[in-house]
Amino acid sequence: MIAKITSHHRAPSALQQTVQNGFIQLYQSDDEAIRKELAAGLTAPQAHTSPKYLYDALGSKLFAAICALPEYYPTRTEAAVFDAHLHEISRSAGRGCTLIDLGAGNCEKAARLFPALQPVQYVPVDISVEFLREAVELLRCRYPHVSMIGVGMDFSSELDLPEQVRDERRLFFYPGSSLGNYTPEEAAAFLGRVRDACGRDGGLLIGIDLVKEAALLEDAYDDAIGLTAAFNLNLLQHLNTLIGTDFNARDWRHRACFNAEQSRIEMHLEARHNVTVRWPGGERHFAAGEGIHTENSYKYTRERFLGLLERAGFGKVRTWTDARGWFMVCHASAL
Ligand code: AVI
Repeated sequence: MIAKITSHHRAPSALQQTVQNGFIQLYQSDDEAIRKELAAGLTAPQAHTSPKYLYDALGSKLFAAICALPEYYPTRTEAAVFDAHLHEISRSAGRGCTLIDLGAGNCEKAARLFPALQPVQYVPVDISVEFLREAVELLRCRYPHVSMIGVGMDFSSELDLPEQVRDERRLFFYPGSSLGNYTPEEAAAFLGRVRDACGRDGGLLIGIDLVKEAALLEDAYDDAIGLTAAFNLNLLQHLNTLIGTDFNARDWRHRACFNAEQSRIEMHLEARHNVTVRWPGGERHFAAGEGIHTENSYKYTRERFLGLLERAGFGKVRTWTDARGWFMVCHASAL
């Protein structure tokens, strides 16, 4: 998923190369930068916040629960595509790679590929190595012959991996259509950085959600039992903790709509009535119905996504989809 939690800056260079118990933390949070970024977003004509703020500890749990919802088809459809085509996917990606898992979280998706891909080195990357510790410990017991090194970095802004990461046969793994949370311009720039980090013989294995009927998309982002609404509203709690806003979630409602022109699902929080939100150093009045734009989730056609890969400099591409054509898995070679 998109790099989570908070704004970060590079830690001092001594820390950069220090491996502690198989983990390297490259970033530390920068509270002042977070405060400025959020205040600017909340006071903009169309108030907005980055989707990374959806993922505090509770937000991450709510997202995990969303993935099990009947309406949220991406997770299980992607898993089914991997299951159905694992043999071909691993033939295309090649065995014995350096598997670099971007936004690894609990490492579960990558772990399912281990028997087929037989990576030589596994590198889960997330904003904080704290997320990774437990999952990596369990994986080490199951795959003692695979060397593993967790990297804490905000890979959304740069992909300068530490020297301990092998540079032969790098396979970047970016599942779950997390790329959809970037604008197409940001996505193109991100893919370009991945391409550069691949080296000569590397590649990218990525999951992308495809354009489909608006009603199916809107149900996936506004489910019957209100989990996605809770996930979106929890952002307000997180902002209260981060910058001392006085949001009351009861003043707000969740709204998800498909913007066909932009080919994206938009999530908003809408004021139920006139509300003034205050925080140390600022305030914003919201009229009833006025909203905060909290997330975009872009949906691609196959052609449009292949165009992005080409623009980023990738060569040969192979794709696999489910029978309904809802979700696509791609392997793109760096050459
Ligand atoms: C993490 N990301 C790919 C999810 C998505 O579908 O855009 C986040 C999400 N937002 C609401 N539901 C799920």
